[in-house]
Amino acid sequence: MKREGLFFLLVLLFQVSFAQQRQEIELNQGWKFYKGQNASASQKEFNDKKWSTVTVPHDWAIYGPFDKEVDKQVVAILQNGEKVPTEKTGRTGSLPHIGDAWYRNYFTVPGFQKGKRVFIQFEGAMSEPKVYVNGTKVGEWNYGYNYFYFDITDQIQNGKNTLAVSLSNKPLSSRWYPGAGLFRKVKLIVKNEESIEHWGTFVTTPFVSDTQAKVNVKTKAAGKDLSLETTILDAQGNTVATNKTSAIFGKEFEQNIAVQNPKLWSPESPYLYTAVSRLYSGNTLKDESSTRFGIRQINYDPKTGFSLNGKVRKFKGVCLHHDLGPLGSAINVSALRRQLRILKDMGCDAVRSSHNMPSLEQLQLCDEMGLMFLAETFDEWAKPKVKNGYARFFDQDAEKDVVNLIRATRNHPCIVMWSSGNEVPDQFGAEGVKRAKWLQEIFHREDPTRPVTVGMDQVKATMASGFGALLDIPGLNYRTHLYEDAFKAFPQGLILGSETASTVSSRGVYKFPVVKAAEKRYDDHQCSSYDMEYCSWSNLPEDDFILQDTKPWVIGQFVWTGFDYLGEPTPYDSYWPSRSSYFGINDLAGLPKDRFYLYRSQWNTTENTLHILPHWNWEGREGQVTPVFVYTNYDSAELFLNGKSMGVQKKNDSSPQAKYRLMWMDLKYEPGTLKVVAYDKAGKAAAEKTIKTAGKPARIVLEPDRKVIDADGNDISFVTVSVVDKDGNACATANNQLNFKVSGNGTYRAACNGDASSLEQFHLPTMKLFSGKLVVLVQSTSKAGDIQLRVEGKGLQAGIIDLKSK
Ligand code: GAL
Repeated sequence: MKREGLFFLLVLLFQVSFAQQRQEIELNQGWKFYKGQNASASQKEFNDKKWSTVTVPHDWAIYGPFDKEVDKQVVAILQNGEKVPTEKTGRTGSLPHIGDAWYRNYFTVPGFQKGKRVFIQFEGAMSEPKVYVNGTKVGEWNYGYNYFYFDITDQIQNGKNTLAVSLSNKPLSSRWYPGAGLFRKVKLIVKNEESIEHWGTFVTTPFVSDTQAKVNVKTKAAGKDLSLETTILDAQGNTVATNKTSAIFGKEFEQNIAVQNPKLWSPESPYLYTAVSRLYSGNTLKDESSTRFGIRQINYDPKTGFSLNGKVRKFKGVCLHHDLGPLGSAINVSALRRQLRILKDMGCDAVRSSHNMPSLEQLQLCDEMGLMFLAETFDEWAKPKVKNGYARFFDQDAEKDVVNLIRATRNHPCIVMWSSGNEVPDQFGAEGVKRAKWLQEIFHREDPTRPVTVGMDQVKATMASGFGALLDIPGLNYRTHLYEDAFKAFPQGLILGSETASTVSSRGVYKFPVVKAAEKRYDDHQCSSYDMEYCSWSNLPEDDFILQDTKPWVIGQFVWTGFDYLGEPTPYDSYWPSRSSYFGINDLAGLPKDRFYLYRSQWNTTENTLHILPHWNWEGREGQVTPVFVYTNYDSAELFLNGKSMGVQKKNDSSPQAKYRLMWMDLKYEPGTLKVVAYDKAGKAAAEKTIKTAGKPARIVLEPDRKVIDADGNDISFVTVSVVDKDGNACATANNQLNFKVSGNGTYRAACNGDASSLEQFHLPTMKLFSGKLVVLVQSTSKAGDIQLRVEGKGLQAGIIDLKSK
């Protein structure tokens, strides 16, 4: 008992003294929110009683309603090759993100006294935030995606402080749904005058071998008579090395610390170390902070390509926009983690944050779960794509935006490359070449360890101007026919597929006849999931597979996109209703489309893939040609319809598709059972899969991704809802209207069915199934306990699932 008591006291003392050195206070509760201009930054009592109370991260626009008028515009989308303006709808999601808004909150700084410094950090604020503390403006930051902080020490008073933030989203400021509001974390940092600078630690691993790694730690600090102790902990928290120094040059300490027998970071083994920095003035501990890092080595070599820890590999990557479907842009860790889990299962090993700074949570998760990262900055430089885009700020802000991206994120081992821009119109003209060079030099100055790319679509112009030749890594967006030319024209000896495919499909929707086609449109505003449709500038997945598989100098690809996103409803951007993308390998609800299995069959090298499409419910198509495709890592397979062999198909070179898919093009539909048997290299049956024609929907089935979630008020269980017939066969075309009810210690958060043409609002507890499925998001409260989700639909046996929060 006594010993326990002593331990408790020590823990308490440690916490108090630690708290004295540095406190981080997240401001997430009790925010007041008002949409409109008519508010004030004043700290004086002012009537925000009628404002709504929200928690941050918050996206004010995601609750809708979807409205065609929100983002109606008459424009020609130049990047898409359009010359004549037409009416566009849904380009930014048709959600009410445009306009001005205010957030207010109150905070105290416990124990604030002279000698303390207080900073406020925003990890993103959409957009053009102006920040006021106790009525005084402390700063502003134009770019909504970036992280920024202000020193607010001089504004802090004892007792209650008032924080006010104004935001403004202009029309025509984005090419996709940008979200709206304080969509990422806001926190206060309280520390001593003698302290480590904000983002002042930079950890790199310039030498890595099996037996030893050199960990270089640069630490910027302020104060007199300083010394710094850096301790390296392994993933279990054991000390593996420590170093103390008082050699400071200007404001910077530099330490080289040896770690013996290092465990290297990689997607397959994402091992993380922590550097604990303790700053002393004289003998007094003044500051302490922790930096997680990985020991890994990256190399880009014209002879061998990209290698990680000495092993050559190609990026099996996807591009992601930042919205989380039904949650909008408000950051949520469980939603991000679920996305990455789905991508890892596909065999994906890399993410590109198109076309802006990623959330810090996404980077932390990629570090932990093992995904490499291409961190991007801008969709525009000085020449605009949209009237009120970033071009308004480029000259004045670009350098500080790049600096903040790098300083805030450079210790993440997942980041293996930077991107200074995407398809910037500045690819044309001499000014653009200068801008590319200028930006790249800022990256090199701030981080000499990672190369810089630009996603280029104007490949011929960049070959002629020298734009492409000066980049560390030339990135090609689409233009598969120009890879060879670019490889010859550019001196780097490497080409990255910085953006690839842009194949379009709607989950579970199939169109006939099955033909390869660009810009195909249908009355129902869906695209075919036979994966044969793309855009005028883009292509099918196989064109990229072939480049990756046959050209050693192609160092990988980032598919557009891993998940559908709000906005950019190509090829329906001139057709209403349609408000989200068709490009995703997974739909907006996170449910896999057929294409998921095509990529999985190539990318996941540890598990087998065997997937049949389409579904087998084609009442009215009896006797008509209804092709069947199989996506699999096996080379050949035999198809059986109602027990009768439809023949063996083998991957072959007759077309790009035939190389990677097994296709029975002439099959005539007859209801019943479709079975595929895959054969291994020796011709032996290795795996099989069966799908069946279903009867009428009878029963609702619920499948949560996690049954036990954290009782933190943020965690979410994603429950896939589907219907089956009386015999348990999936009803793949069901579109029943369902109603959701959550009881116990959880709340109904949202639902999403992946239908890009649906105008149903995510947060209302009712939605139609789309192609037989949807996903319900059940959120925990801060009270632990039982949670129940009940889903009902007319004429269907209800689905009930019991979840738990801890
Ligand atoms: C690219 C662009 C992306 C997206 C995509 C759609 O040109 O970089 O942001 O618009 O096309 O195919």
